[in-house]
Amino acid sequence: MKPCWWTVVLLAVTTVALCSPLINELEPGQEWPKRGSVKQPQDESEDEDTLTEETPPSHPEAEILGEIKEEISSLARAAENADTKVDYSGAQLWKVSTEKTGVRATLGRLRRRNLISTWAGNQTYMDILVKQTAVQNVTRVMKRENITYDIIIEDLQKRINEENPPLDENEVELQDRRGHRMTWKQYHRLEDIHGFMDYLAKTYPKIVSVNTIGKSYEERDLKVLRISDGKPTNKAVFIDGGFHAREWISPATVTYIINQIAENFDEESDDIKNIDWYILPVVNPDGYEYTHVKDRLWRKNRRPGIGRQCVGADLNRNFGYRWGGKGASSNPCSDIYRGSRPFSEPESRAIAEFIKTSTANFSAYLTFHSYGQYLLYPWGYDTVAPPDHKDLDIVGKKIAAAIETTGGSKFTVGCSSKLLYPASGGSDDWAKGQGIKYTYTIELGDTGRYGFVLPTTFIEPVAREALAGIRVLASEIHKL
Ligand SMILES: *[C@@H]1O[C@H](CO)[C@@H](O)[C@H](O)[C@H]1NC(C)=O
Ligand SMILES: *[C@@H]1O[C@H](CO)[C@@H](O)[C@H](O)[C@H]1NC(C)=O
Ligand SMILES: *[C@@H]1O[C@H](CO)[C@@H](O)[C@H](O)[C@H]1NC(C)=O
Ligand SMILES: *[C@@H]1O[C@H](CO)[C@@H](O)[C@H](O)[C@H]1NC(C)=O
Ligand SMILES: [Zn+2]
Repeated sequence: MKPCWWTVVLLAVTTVALCSPLINELEPGQEWPKRGSVKQPQDESEDEDTLTEETPPSHPEAEILGEIKEEISSLARAAENADTKVDYSGAQLWKVSTEKTGVRATLGRLRRRNLISTWAGNQTYMDILVKQTAVQNVTRVMKRENITYDIIIEDLQKRINEENPPLDENEVELQDRRGHRMTWKQYHRLEDIHGFMDYLAKTYPKIVSVNTIGKSYEERDLKVLRISDGKPTNKAVFIDGGFHAREWISPATVTYIINQIAENFDEESDDIKNIDWYILPVVNPDGYEYTHVKDRLWRKNRRPGIGRQCVGADLNRNFGYRWGGKGASSNPCSDIYRGSRPFSEPESRAIAEFIKTSTANFSAYLTFHSYGQYLLYPWGYDTVAPPDHKDLDIVGKKIAAAIETTGGSKFTVGCSSKLLYPASGGSDDWAKGQGIKYTYTIELGDTGRYGFVLPTTFIEPVAREALAGIRVLASEIHKL
């Protein structure tokens, strides 16, 4: 039997009635309304110098260093087979001055031989992890080439062991009473983060809702939490964290921001309340879990390589704006592997599809990373600035000032490709390319004392500063 026309109308009316006023009471799995359908992202890459890490040139170092060509993930693979964690005993963190000519080339060769890996860097310094088995040989190379460096961490495994101690009994008891397990006194597993988001949606159904916008490669949920009082005149902001698995301070900070806004919404300023907040705390859940159970210093996602290729792509080199340009690698074993094509990875694809199809008109896109204390704006793909770079610079400096007033940390503001180095395929470039005005990558603390292995005592101070920055951004958005 064909349904009568009025059944269809009634259904449509009911759907509209159900979707509009009750939009804040989505059940997990239900979706926020979408705008149009998604177009497949285009490869927008152009002919540019591509920084690849393949085919190391032959060089006298070969004698000293040995011809070691093991893949970056070989340690991880051994651990996987042995069902144990990757052990960083005796591995060291060095800060190397790169101002002298030839230093970068030397570090590049050491990296290709898999004796070191890069943690962070700017125009004048590089933080490198020196593997335990390589400390002697790398020391010799540095001496011979007169390269100056400081040893920042003597034994990384010791720092890893001390980084995230278990909660004391009082805290555990508090957790049980609160209805969720997040504390900001510890780095939590994905289950606790997702549990916390669901708790907020259940507790504050009028303003908080959670939506799974896609699945990671290993089919973990990509959960976006929305905080909104539903006013049609609201602006919108998208915030994410946890792109890079080992940057634990990022999801911790992003969930802190969620907690402050959701738990105190009624007392919040109009600047905060007149924004629809869309927040994805863990972009790379597979990598995040992997850093908890296998390899603390894993960066990429966990898509398996084809054949004997290495695992994982760098999600922040996989976005389809000038994909495949500078500062991204075509080598699957590289930590900055761009993926096989733009948006080849389910995690980056989900974010792009969500932002493109959302009814929200985003005024800002913030992506939290660590470390270095930088507030970076596009473009990242090359040393060019967008037409409104002055606006981005002015607001960025106001955010940095608020951060410093709050907790004393100094953030350097600038165009990412100029301040640090070009890096193509980043989510910030893509967001800016979508026309989102205030687009920033925020490299949280510290500046390299602990690097990625930042003790839990830093969570609250770092997150409090970030929240102060968010408040400034909110007020600037309303001036648009
Ligand atoms: C260190 O150098 C020695 C001698 O040149 C070489 O035999 C050894 O394989 C090197 N070790 C590493 C880890 O590269
Ligand atoms: C680069 O890094 C070094 C060491 O971490 C720091 O002292 C310096 O201020 C940084 N430069 C810029 C431009 O941020
Ligand atoms: C290293 O520095 C020392 C003294 O500063 C100098 O005598 C030597 O020639 C330098 N070696 C190289 C390879 O630059
Ligand atoms: C989105 O907001 C900007 C100003 O923030 C405005 O210029 C633009 O027209 C808006 N777009 C839509 C589709 O509402
Ligand atoms: Zn990062």
